[in-house]
Amino acid sequence: MARTQSDLKRRPDSTEDGSSQIVPSISIENLVKHFRRENGTEVRAVDDISIDVPLGEFLVLLGPSGCGKTTLLRCIAGLEKPTSGRIATQRGVMFDSGKRRNVPPEARRIGMVFQSYALWPHMTVFDNVAYPLRARRAPKAGIHSRVTSTLDVLGIGELAHQYPGQVSGGQQQRVALARALVAGEDTVLFDEPLSNVDAQVRDELRIEIRGMQRELGFTAVYVTHDREEAMGLATRIAVIERGRVAQIGTPKAIYSQPSSLHVARTIGSTTEMGGTVKGWEGDHAVVNTKLGLIRVSTSESVSPGDNVLLVTRPVDWQLDFNDSPLVNQWRAVIKAGAFLGTRNEYIVAVEDALIHHVWHHGEILPQGSQVWISIPPAAIQILGDSDEKAKA
Ligand SMILES: Nc1ncnc2c1ncn2[C@@H]1O[C@H](COP(=O)(O)OP(=O)(O)OP(=O)(O)O)[C@@H](O)[C@H]1O
Ligand SMILES: [Mg+2]
Repeated sequence: MARTQSDLKRRPDSTEDGSSQIVPSISIENLVKHFRRENGTEVRAVDDISIDVPLGEFLVLLGPSGCGKTTLLRCIAGLEKPTSGRIATQRGVMFDSGKRRNVPPEARRIGMVFQSYALWPHMTVFDNVAYPLRARRAPKAGIHSRVTSTLDVLGIGELAHQYPGQVSGGQQQRVALARALVAGEDTVLFDEPLSNVDAQVRDELRIEIRGMQRELGFTAVYVTHDREEAMGLATRIAVIERGRVAQIGTPKAIYSQPSSLHVARTIGSTTEMGGTVKGWEGDHAVVNTKLGLIRVSTSESVSPGDNVLLVTRPVDWQLDFNDSPLVNQWRAVIKAGAFLGTRNEYIVAVEDALIHHVWHHGEILPQGSQVWISIPPAAIQILGDSDEKAKA
């Protein structure tokens, strides 16, 4: 495939309004979007969100269905008028409820890729991709070279004269991506773009999207409810919960220091256990649980008598056959196991207490096998109990 990123970087038409030096980034301040349902109830789809997206960042919005991801993206693109707040990009203020400013979508220079490819069926691949440039009356020569080089970068140069109905779903999504890159120049918004393509194409396209974003340097805001997709793409993840940002940070920080049970569960599988704090041994909190005493390395300021929830990751549980004394280690019996391709997943019993989601590699162990299980004190998160349980 001809690599023509340098052509793209030059952005042939971006000087038409003298704005080629503009550096992208998005600043969202106190953004609110309420909808009113037919029955009169109000939905706070976006409920006071403030996020700064720096230049070249790949920000992923991760959250369950209905949490407001699409609405937030549509507000940034200008497809939805927010109820209040402010949205600015490096091109200026795009929306400001206080100043009654609302720049129309086509003038925002933001590309958008949708879950449904949203291509025009009566236009060729080339014309679909050229559309945003023609709509803004870019010079003809610039359009041709820009569209051609973008199609080449995406490996679909030879499809330029086909119609969308004549190419595969994965290829259609590449066309949609090409159109967004051409339209966006420096900012591209993605709304679950890979959920309609099959698993292999999805993996390929995900890697390509990330590679292109790094090479071309555009700022990306990418919506998904797939945590692996989020982890694989993001420089930062914003976990969205009921129209609000529950936590924002690097994938690693969100994964290993989730601020709530909701975030912990959103970003990965969990193994959870309630308990009561017994006291402290040095910097280890000692918590009484169904397994007995568990030592937790934590900076949380818990006190004896506090009810807490201990949250761990299945992958952090160790399964051993010999007793090489470890902190937080118990004799256990395999109750059930499943081979999941890259790992085995077990339910193990420590006396009467069951632990679900214990992962282990190697030969699958038969039911009834005697093992030792352990969890390192640093691999346990302590979360406040009462309100977390209520939310769970
Ligand atoms: N035009 C509308 N009128 C009324 N309510 C709406 C409208 N658009 C969205 N909503 C509501 O706003 C909330 C957020 O919707 P949104 O589409 O942003 O969620 P989402 O996080 O993108 O979900 P999904 O993962 O299912 O796409 C939902 O409760 C939805 O029903
Ligand atoms: Mg959505």
